[in-house]
Amino acid sequence: MRYLQILILPFTLLLLSACDSGDIYPVDKSNSGGLTCKIALTFKHTSTWPSDYHVVLAAYQNDSEYSEISKGISRQVEGDTLHLTMTDIPESCQLVTIAIVNKSKRNVVNLMTHTIQPSERNDRLIELGTQDIDLLAYERVQAQVFSNCTNCHGGSAHAAAGLFLTEGKSYDALVNVPSTKQSDKVLVAPGMTSNSFILDVLEGNAENVRYNHTNVSFNSETEDLNLLKEWIKNIDK
Ligand code: HEC
Repeated sequence: MRYLQILILPFTLLLLSACDSGDIYPVDKSNSGGLTCKIALTFKHTSTWPSDYHVVLAAYQNDSEYSEISKGISRQVEGDTLHLTMTDIPESCQLVTIAIVNKSKRNVVNLMTHTIQPSERNDRLIELGTQDIDLLAYERVQAQVFSNCTNCHGGSAHAAAGLFLTEGKSYDALVNVPSTKQSDKVLVAPGMTSNSFILDVLEGNAENVRYNHTNVSFNSETEDLNLLKEWIKNIDK
């Protein structure tokens, strides 16, 4: 019996290695390694480039807060074009975005979103051409600044001072709207930080407002307030 085993083993190995040979049946490699995305980017308002957050090219599954794959983008010069290629994007992804993510890589906001098309899956190539990314997009201000306010300002049944800072409502509730606490000022005055009561409130200089807003917790207070100021300066009058 033992002799038989010793005899059979080398033959089995020989057979196995013969089946394994790629020469006889070439392996189709096109299905491995995922999709590739090519994109060119120009950035607007680069003075508001985040430092406590990161700008990334990323691929996501629908509704996921964390990307399957991402590539960090370092601070760019206004108007320069950056060419990027991302390979190995998993098949499971539906979205390619330019996103701002926080330190733990959770998505804060998408500044550009592309849904992967069936034809792109077929070609295994997503070509997005040149995309202009505005770092002062209102969506970013909502996600980075006003998301810290909605607990009291309209996220629940109550909106403090009747002020709704929730998504889709905050712009109309702020821009050129007179303060209910100090009638000679508007909450956000386009182009004029000094006339914007919201900054008095957040910096603790609004005597008539009873809640001390310097207690509001931000992910990154300096950066978020600076973003708000730059946004106000750049709203069209
Ligand atoms: C913990 C609750 C709370 C949070 C969080 C909060 N606020 Fe307020 N806010 C209030 C209250 C309460 C008032 C009204 C105070 C009063 O009646 O004197 C107020 C008033 C204001 C006013 C004055 C409105 C007016 O008509 O003059 C502004 C502007 C404002 N908040 C902006 C913000 C912004 C922006 C944030 C987020 C960055 C924020 N608040 C976060 C509770 C909050």
